[in-house]
Amino acid sequence: MQTLLILGATGRTGRSLLERRLGQGGRVRAIVRRREGLPESTRNHPRLELVEASVLELSDRELTRYVQDCDGVVSCLGHTLDCRGLFGAPRRLCADATSRVCRAIEENRPARPVRFVLMNSVGVQNPDLEEKRSPFDRGILAFLRRALPPHKDNELAAGRLHRDIGRQSPYIEWCVVRPDTLTDEGLSACRLTASPTTSLLRGRPTARANVARFMIDLVDDDRLWDTWKFRMPVIMDAIDSDA
Ligand SMILES: NC(=O)c1ccc[n+]([C@@H]2O[C@H](COP(=O)([O-])OP(=O)(O)OC[C@H]3O[C@@H](n4cnc5c(N)ncnc54)[C@H](OP(=O)(O)O)[C@@H]3O)[C@@H](O)[C@H]2O)c1
Repeated sequence: MQTLLILGATGRTGRSLLERRLGQGGRVRAIVRRREGLPESTRNHPRLELVEASVLELSDRELTRYVQDCDGVVSCLGHTLDCRGLFGAPRRLCADATSRVCRAIEENRPARPVRFVLMNSVGVQNPDLEEKRSPFDRGILAFLRRALPPHKDNELAAGRLHRDIGRQSPYIEWCVVRPDTLTDEGLSACRLTASPTTSLLRGRPTARANVARFMIDLVDDDRLWDTWKFRMPVIMDAIDSDA
């Protein structure tokens, strides 16, 4: 198990991911703005290398060094849900972090492709598939695109992998994970689909713990990776009627 680079490790999904990875015996490098945001039990963990900085403020040279020897990158970045986080700078947090980290990986020319897993949103379309949305959902998404910068950022971030990196890079393979409505429930069975299956109005609960587990499994499990690489799986908690 090589080192996993985590972006957003102080977030609610990121913390779960970090604890899980360290619990599995893996090595983690995490770029965080404040170490106090990490779970206390992890802050001085011997297998955690902490970089205290905002990912967008690191120089290209620093980023290139921090992605070196990482076989996977997981980004759980998201805008803080207050006025400044939603409408202030940086408006392209997820998209710019994705682009910069990808450039840093390419600069290193790794011998094997690095697996890049991006936490995104069920509200983002997969351009490869004809994902049908109701007129109502299309209206909501058009509104969000104009009114809510984080939604646009999620669309751009997915595009940076889907369009800019594509499927031909010898250095990067990717998966865009699209959770439905996030909750802080514990681990449970989850359901994965290639495209959204319900209206945005009837969002399905999705435990952050399940999202974290799936994103780590993607990096570790070759069969799972082969199933979902270059795709944009939607993840939600399983319910009885899924059986
Ligand atoms: N809410 C939902 O129902 C829902 C549904 C589907 C998808 N999503 C997506 O899920 C992701 C968020 O998941 P979450 O709830 O786990 O996020 P979260 O708890 O809000 O964590 C966000 C992470 O991003 C970091 N961050 C925020 N602003 C930053 C900045 N300017 N520079 C560097 N780092 C910054 C935070 O660091 P600090 O601790 O330093 O602030 C934190 O580590 C988002 O991409 C969101 O669009 C949400």
